[in-house]
Amino acid sequence: MTIFKLLLLPGDGIGPEVMAEVEKIIDCFASEGVAKFETEKGLVGGCAYDAHGKAISEADMALAGAADAILFAAVGGPKWDGVPYDVRPEAGLLRLRKDLALYANLRPAICYPALASASSLKPEVVEGLDIMIVRELTGGVYFGEPKQIIDLGNGQKRAIDTQVYDTFEIERIGRTAFELARNRGNKVTSSEKRNVMKSGVLWHEVMTALHKREYSDVKLEHQLADALGMQLVRWPKQFDVIVTDNLFGDMLSDVAAMLTGSLGMLPSASLGDVDPKSGRRKALYEPVHGSAPDIAGKGLANPIAMIGSFGMALRYSFGLNAAADRLDAAIARVLADGLRTADIRGDGDRLASTGEMGDAIVAELGRSAG
Ligand code: IPM
Ligand code: MG
Repeated sequence: MTIFKLLLLPGDGIGPEVMAEVEKIIDCFASEGVAKFETEKGLVGGCAYDAHGKAISEADMALAGAADAILFAAVGGPKWDGVPYDVRPEAGLLRLRKDLALYANLRPAICYPALASASSLKPEVVEGLDIMIVRELTGGVYFGEPKQIIDLGNGQKRAIDTQVYDTFEIERIGRTAFELARNRGNKVTSSEKRNVMKSGVLWHEVMTALHKREYSDVKLEHQLADALGMQLVRWPKQFDVIVTDNLFGDMLSDVAAMLTGSLGMLPSASLGDVDPKSGRRKALYEPVHGSAPDIAGKGLANPIAMIGSFGMALRYSFGLNAAADRLDAAIARVLADGLRTADIRGDGDRLASTGEMGDAIVAELGRSAG
């Protein structure tokens, strides 16, 4: 049996709590004989800074490079507000994305039927929602140079960030989006601000040409990023796959998360190119939510986004689609039974702690073992 190497990076805040629930799921699949997993743990974010003075150590970067998949929970918190910018907790995550060339960030926003009433929007607006946001993850204003604050010497400072995209970066994320769309609703909405930004002009041009050349069987639409934000809360079911840059993707995926009821529900996959020799690709899986320091250590965190991220690893890294389907179904059934963590609880629901939610999903998985 193939052995899959997993690197677990629990990070800070609620990270270790939600990661502990994923470990239960990993153990459950391993004991069923679905696959063999070899897991190692590393430090990233504030906890890595406390231990090594860096947001991730070279040793842990090496483990990340050797892993078949990385499971990453969350980083940051007020404790590290004053640390130097280049070793702040988020720098660990950004280095993992950049050094491993994880340019394609897949953020599915699915509204489980049982949670339609947990959304801040009307149930009929979100019921049955199934969107895939494809966010470019290694370019744009996150990484563009120059990126600095200059002292102008007259009592003024100037801050500069650089939004920069090359043709190949737009093309490869476009391909990811079109390929995904072919196996879903066959529609891609590309989003930028070409009315204000040169990078938006090029983005639009490259997407249009790629579509015409290789993907004319897929429907392509363009929406300016501000308008798309509005449409996401007005009528989100018009979307199938949304493809956009690093910064717009960051913002729009937080918005999409709330459509599904809670930021605690959204998983994500960050993928590199498939290596033609091994047939494998570098991949990191993480919830869209952050470290939520205000609720850390209280058993209040929702582990579903983290567990769903492992589900994406089963699908996109290990080809274990049946196991991934079972995990998704187990989550849906636990929710349909009325079990809820605090973030998604409505009238009449049973409140579960982080650990109880994980246990309930494991128990459901047990019932579907064949
Ligand atoms: C995300 C997060 C990160 C980002 C932070 C933690 C650097 O918000 O993954 O959406 O901005 O990409
Ligand atoms: Mg974000």
